[in-house]
Amino acid sequence: MTDLIERFTRGPLGIIRMTRQPVNALGHALRCAISEAHRDFDADPAIAAIVLTGSGRFFSAGADITEFDSGRKPPYLTDLIDQLEQGGTPVVALINGIAFGGGLELSLGCDDIYLLPKAKLALPEIKLGIIPGAGGTQKLPRVIGGPEALAFILKGDPINADKACALGLARAIAPDEDAALDLIARAAEDGLPRRDMHTLTVPGAVSDLDEVAAPFLRRARGAPAPAKALEGVRMAYTTPLDEGLAWERETFTALNASPESRAMRHVFFAERQAAKIADIPADTTKRPVETAGVIGAGTMGAGIAMCFADAGIPVTIVEQDRERLDAGLANIRRSYEAMRDKGRLAPETAEARLASITGSVAMRDLGAADVVVEAVFEAMDVKREVFAQLDAICKPGAILATNTSTLDVNEIAAATGRPEDVIGLHFFSPAHIMKLLEVVRAEKTAKDVVATAMDLGRRLGKIAVLVGVCNGFAGNRMFINFNREAQILIEEGALPWQIDKVLTDWGLAMGPLSVMDLAGLDVGYRIRKARGAQTPYPFTTADRLAEAGRLGQKTGAGWYRYPEGARRGEPDPEVEALIEQVSREKGITRRPVSDDEILHRCLWQLVNTGYQILEEGIAQRASDLDVIFVNGYGFPRSRGGPMFHAQEVGLDRVAADVSRYHDAHGAHWAPSAMLLREAGKAPPA
Ligand code: 3HC
Ligand code: NAI
Repeated sequence: MTDLIERFTRGPLGIIRMTRQPVNALGHALRCAISEAHRDFDADPAIAAIVLTGSGRFFSAGADITEFDSGRKPPYLTDLIDQLEQGGTPVVALINGIAFGGGLELSLGCDDIYLLPKAKLALPEIKLGIIPGAGGTQKLPRVIGGPEALAFILKGDPINADKACALGLARAIAPDEDAALDLIARAAEDGLPRRDMHTLTVPGAVSDLDEVAAPFLRRARGAPAPAKALEGVRMAYTTPLDEGLAWERETFTALNASPESRAMRHVFFAERQAAKIADIPADTTKRPVETAGVIGAGTMGAGIAMCFADAGIPVTIVEQDRERLDAGLANIRRSYEAMRDKGRLAPETAEARLASITGSVAMRDLGAADVVVEAVFEAMDVKREVFAQLDAICKPGAILATNTSTLDVNEIAAATGRPEDVIGLHFFSPAHIMKLLEVVRAEKTAKDVVATAMDLGRRLGKIAVLVGVCNGFAGNRMFINFNREAQILIEEGALPWQIDKVLTDWGLAMGPLSVMDLAGLDVGYRIRKARGAQTPYPFTTADRLAEAGRLGQKTGAGWYRYPEGARRGEPDPEVEALIEQVSREKGITRRPVSDDEILHRCLWQLVNTGYQILEEGIAQRASDLDVIFVNGYGFPRSRGGPMFHAQEVGLDRVAADVSRYHDAHGAHWAPSAMLLREAGKAPPA
């Protein structure tokens, strides 16, 4: 046994078990170990079949992504697959758990595939901006059909053992490893047929593929891999296997070197890095979280309760009165029913989730909860009152969380006698759908509370990022400045639809003005009025729109007009006239603003603010800010996040632009000292 594989025999079988921690990624050393073990078994006449399997939760997570930048060494995965195919002894993959990417392609190089019940199969390469590179695009269509294979590759999501068998991807599911090995041994004694992919053709017509690909190509936002996946699967119909495989290898290598793939790999590792906290060891004992409470059944509270229900954590939701509680519970029911009706949730699962949510109008019903998330109105006095009550009611050790988006978590914590148990859990709307969770660490929050909250985020299916207390935390603070720049550009001469188009063409899911229309112009208006005007104050047009009742989509008009409830806005001459009037009132001579200026002024506001946040210790690392923007603000994964993008462009150029904007536009462009240092434009701190 090595730390890479175990090998042993059982009757006529030679078994190779991958044991490389943590996920059996097929790095160079593991490829060598499998190759050597296979060669030995293949040369042994007593071995009727070789079984390749994994350990723990993993068969194999695929190619070792850390090798993609450092250069891979032979034997490549494709060499290893060739070796299995060309050996004299049949090879069977016994997929015990996760078989992703190259792990599944390795299995497709075997003569047959058996599964254990926990098998999960996927070709997730598309999420890294690449296509499968070890046979996936050419062999899978031959095994399960072209449209099925293409959908599988374009989605990149895992299927379970039942689905894999139903698709004809695997032969059978065995209840456990012993039973599987017995099955394989019997099959070997009967003479396992060899699989020669060269002899297989893809059934059906090529034309079916376009329909499958269309929605993925629409959503590709500039990333080249989906179109290449389509091209590859199309080739599988008509091109001899070896030619198709050669095309696939070349295309894989080219995509791997593309900026989009580099960015997506950055996000992959950044998302995992975000879970690590400098001063809190990973093995910190977490507090148990088996039951939860939510206060407020409004927009956020209802969604947060669903997050707990979806994760199998029973939750009690408390409202101020029966009527509002019933309205909140009815919204939750409608959401689950919609998911059920769209086939996204089995009817019994929808019912079970609903049954795990209990409504109440009595705070004392939260006494036994392990964690309580408050989602009441955004007003400090209301929040403090709720936290004082929680302090009196909740059991010792319960985690008391607030979903505030703008208020000071330290001040909320001070309303209790146990500030060490208080933390911010900043969900994003719609809470049960958005992946991002900002975990807000207040001054006195205990380390084990932080560790538990990060772990809870993972259990809720979120990507949790740790941030500190400041106005807007990390994400909204950056977004507000980005949005403010859009408003300034409008006063100078740009129009809302020009700004939105520049940013969505570049890859953002939505432009800032469309976002405002979706969220409602009243939200920002109320906050601005509560805080008083700041200088420079570029929100005059937004305020006038709000005051005129143009609150966005919900009123049929905002920055855009929305004829008859349309979700896509149309440019509105009335808004254009208002904008021109506001510029006139402020004595601004409007000028044509170039697309390039719009793009860079908006992006560099994000980046400059990001560096200010890092400097203040509000976020741990630049890549955390990328994770926040990709998962919470529709920033394109294929651009890697604002901070990564700035580094790719070159921080010296970014710092130079920021300094130029500072000279031209004033104090809100004051360059972050950290940006200047990182750009080499200021001495180290
Ligand atoms: N290569 C290198 N490292 C990997 C890896 C991979 N393929 N997959 C996971 N890891 C690392 C993670 O970075 C993490 O490292 P860390 O502990 O230092 O942060 C560690 O393994 C554990 O990963 P997770 O925290 O993600 O563990 P989970 O249990 O939550 O998830 C997983 C496991 C579902 C396998 C998830 O890690 C995953 O989706 N991995 C990527 C799978 C993938 O994209 N495979 C395709 C690779 S490309 C390929 O195969 C090309 C081929 O076509 C030629
Ligand atoms: P909402 O107005 O939709 O819901 C608030 C609910 O809290 C109402 O149903 C109200 O009846 C209830 N409530 C008020 N006081 C209560 C009390 N003492 N006991 C029990 N229930 C009480 O508001 P929304 O949008 O859900 O926001 C809630 C919180 O989430 C706010 O702090 C907000 O800043 C934050 N937030 C909102 C986001 C959004 O997009 N709406 C995003 C992220 C955070």
